[in-house]
Amino acid sequence: MVTEQVPGKVDMDKLVSLCKRRGFIFPSSEIYGGMGACYDYGPLGVELKNNVKKAWWKANVQERDDMVGLDASILMHPQTWVASGHVEGFADPLVECKQCHQRWRADHVKDGRCPACGGELTEPRMFNLMFKTFVGPVEDEASVVYLRPETAQGIFVNFLNVLNSTRRRLPFGIAQIGKSFRNEITTGNFIFRMREFEQMEIEYFVKPGSDEQWFKHWVEQRFNWYSNLGIKKENLRLRQHAKDELAHYARDCYDIEYLFPIGWSELEGVANRTDFDLKQHSKYSGKDLSYFDEETKEHIIPYVIEPSAGVDRSVLAFLADSYDEEKDKEGLRVILRLHYDLAPIKAAVLPLSRNEKLIPLSREVYDTLRKCWMVQYDDAQSIGRRYRRQDEIGTPFCVTVDFQSLEDRQVTIRERDKMRQIRVPIEVLKPTLEAKLYGEPLDVLPPGGKKWLGFE
Ligand code: GLY
Repeated sequence: MVTEQVPGKVDMDKLVSLCKRRGFIFPSSEIYGGMGACYDYGPLGVELKNNVKKAWWKANVQERDDMVGLDASILMHPQTWVASGHVEGFADPLVECKQCHQRWRADHVKDGRCPACGGELTEPRMFNLMFKTFVGPVEDEASVVYLRPETAQGIFVNFLNVLNSTRRRLPFGIAQIGKSFRNEITTGNFIFRMREFEQMEIEYFVKPGSDEQWFKHWVEQRFNWYSNLGIKKENLRLRQHAKDELAHYARDCYDIEYLFPIGWSELEGVANRTDFDLKQHSKYSGKDLSYFDEETKEHIIPYVIEPSAGVDRSVLAFLADSYDEEKDKEGLRVILRLHYDLAPIKAAVLPLSRNEKLIPLSREVYDTLRKCWMVQYDDAQSIGRRYRRQDEIGTPFCVTVDFQSLEDRQVTIRERDKMRQIRVPIEVLKPTLEAKLYGEPLDVLPPGGKKWLGFE
């Protein structure tokens, strides 16, 4: 369901259709008519999504010495959600049309009438967004558990475990990527708002008093992460939450917003959660979740800065921002100008034709490259068509094997973005692609290799 289309941005329907046609994203359980607001990632989508998660983990865990990772379970002790405030307060105002009985989120309805039929709406009532299920064979109140509506709480309940097992000092953070579930009243706009979705969350624990400084740090870091991965700066902005918009745990919050095809919307929230969560869990569990400050010899409850990003929204933003079209003599060239780190397929090996003489060398090149990266082999249809197919899925490099290659063991590399072509010996193909993909200096090449390179 598309609500709005921003002029000049890729048409959401076009993106949905490309995703389906090329195997990025499919409607869930489609053969049964689909499952509202659930989507499946296809062969290319899972690569793209994994690359987004890898890039996030690299920037936020691997390259920082103040961060560690965690993978907590989705089902948690039900008291977790009482302590966190979700049982009491994680609810949206629900209204129902008295005429057609469609249900809406009250704050998503303009003019107080049913958006579908214009009918009168009921008074709003609060509707809890957590999915409930039962543990074990008996379906009674004592066995109710929830599918987690945020990954954050898995981090808070493990605060002591991580502290004791890693001997960390403040400030430090715990990062986690995982599925969360919200029984949204209104969903839609493709993978923007789904009932099952994936989060990339950081809980960064700091000394009280230093929270504002760390809050600024994380807003900046997280904004730059998107632009470093190719999102155009003019399509990103920061928006501070108004006081009446803040979640029950937050003292301050900035949304990093992206200009989606449906308009400016939240990509990530960075919140100052204060000491709310650790205090609540101390109170409800009876465990002391304080931190002993060696400098002041005092027990303190750390403050928490939380950058909370949506994996699926990030995927949608990277797809929308990289989508490009160019007119050429064959019609329209569609290109996903994805950052090389995110591209699902890094290179495609294309024998010039299906002539069987080309097969052994083409397979040799393919087998060498696929040990390092996701690489496709494509020998169907004209070479021009195959270049277009790779452009449309964002493959940065095509490697063409022709009859001359059988003589001189050289292949042609063609770049996605500038469509430049160069010829290199097969012996330096891997280091050449490596240098281009990772932006490394070309002197990683073996002696003599450099003179073959046409890249700047
Ligand atoms: N942990 C914050 C959120 O899920 O929105």
